[in-house]
Amino acid sequence: MPTPASEKQFGNSSEILISKTYLSRAVRPFIEEDLESLLVNCRENNAKVNVTGALLHHNDYFMQLLEGTSVEVEAVYARIAADPRHEVMSILFEDEISARFFPDWSMGYRAANMIPSKALNQVYESAKFDSKRFPINDFLMMFSDDK
Ligand SMILES: Cc1cc2nc3c(=O)[nH]c(=O)nc-3n(C[C@H](O)[C@H](O)[C@H](O)COP(=O)(O)O)c2cc1C
Repeated sequence: MPTPASEKQFGNSSEILISKTYLSRAVRPFIEEDLESLLVNCRENNAKVNVTGALLHHNDYFMQLLEGTSVEVEAVYARIAADPRHEVMSILFEDEISARFFPDWSMGYRAANMIPSKALNQVYESAKFDSKRFPINDFLMMFSDDK
């Protein structure tokens, strides 16, 4: 039997998918070139292990959603968490998902100036002060017009 396209792209579809979102703060400000090379690196690495997701950057904060099988997501996250260029402040969301939010993106990216500031502030403020009430839908909305 031929393998459906979705399984070819993302491995065995019966594997359980998880999504993990964290908030971190840069140790030193990232300039445009830093971000560009970071994104190239993220996209290359993530594509190899079928991890998809999205990254937000606002002032010195990052918010990143990773998704894939738990083994793959945890391996990528372990590298990210050990990166001395930033400090992870909290895990905002971690759960099983029935489907990927960003199936086509090895790492989507949004800088703060591409997002309505009211929406961005709402997500960042909730995340900083009450991670249990992290508005995952608001985070996803910020990327919705690219889909
Ligand atoms: C905010 C932030 C997000 C990152 N996201 C990813 C990512 O999604 N995937 C990834 O492989 N590396 C990511 N990195 C980079 C890793 O921390 C690490 O530098 C990289 O995975 C090492 O890759 P290399 O072994 O190919 O040099 C991120 C780093 C930062 C600071």
